[in-house]
Amino acid sequence: MDLQMTGKVVFQTGAGGRLGRAIALAFAREGAKVAVVDVNAQAAAATVAALVATGSEAVAVVGDVTRKADVERMLEEATKALGPVDVLVNGHGIFPNIPMLETTVEEWDQIFAINTRGTMLTCQAVAKQMIARGAQGAIVNVSSGAATSARIGGAGYCGSKAAVNLLTHAFAIEVGPHGIRVNAVAPGLIMDTVLRPGDEHAAGYVNMMLESTPMRRTGAPEDIAEAILFLAAERNSWVTGSILEVTGGSHCGRPHVPLSRNLR
Ligand SMILES: NC(=O)c1ccc[n+]([C@@H]2O[C@H](COP(=O)([O-])OP(=O)(O)OC[C@H]3O[C@@H](n4cnc5c(N)ncnc54)[C@H](O)[C@@H]3O)[C@@H](O)[C@H]2O)c1
Repeated sequence: MDLQMTGKVVFQTGAGGRLGRAIALAFAREGAKVAVVDVNAQAAAATVAALVATGSEAVAVVGDVTRKADVERMLEEATKALGPVDVLVNGHGIFPNIPMLETTVEEWDQIFAINTRGTMLTCQAVAKQMIARGAQGAIVNVSSGAATSARIGGAGYCGSKAAVNLLTHAFAIEVGPHGIRVNAVAPGLIMDTVLRPGDEHAAGYVNMMLESTPMRRTGAPEDIAEAILFLAAERNSWVTGSILEVTGGSHCGRPHVPLSRNLR
């Protein structure tokens, strides 16, 4: 299926990361040029090397998405190197698990600064550029299943991703009339290798997750990349404001309930 990505410019944050590398490679496979945005210069360079090795055009753009000046500078650098942006992917993030009783103000602010403010700032900067040139662009934010499913220690993380979900909806309403679509993916548990029940490397909590995951495996970064491509593709031009769960079904509900055929 042609996703019509040839020559498109993707501004992708967190592209040096675990999910980020796979997402960048998926866009490159479809013919897009990727601006590899990350605060970690080494990680960004490694993703660019992987992209260039496939014959794709890519550039590393290093900076901190929590800082408005960095975001504006990075967008300028990316545009100069590859052309104006057609697709924004927000794949940066941190995911600490800190009991709320022990969370400091600095920790709380840092989680929201990176996960939520960083997403807002890139959306704002890229959408302004798209509107200025009348581009029918697409934005895909990486949220999390944790946005709608609380977990111990997750007040900051779950809250920051719940805010990403609502930011996605609000921005979809705001920029839809300009022809810009805004969607999000909400991944389940993705590790460096795909684990299945009984795998010796699976920690206790992973085995518990697997028991409640209908597809009986953890996710691969590529699972998320394919969903992001779908949401970014122009052919899906009526899809906006959606939060697509890509979880192997782990967030459908609770499987640990006894069955019963008692009809009265
Ligand atoms: N791995 C999972 O199981 C999982 C599940 C649900 C959601 N997610 C989300 O997916 C995204 C990527 O996760 P990952 O597993 O690839 O993590 P990762 O740590 O491998 O990648 C995150 C990347 O973001 C970059 N980054 C962090 N702060 C930044 C900043 N201020 N400015 C620019 N770049 C910054 C990091 O340098 C890193 O390269 C995150 O938003 C995470 O919350 C991951």
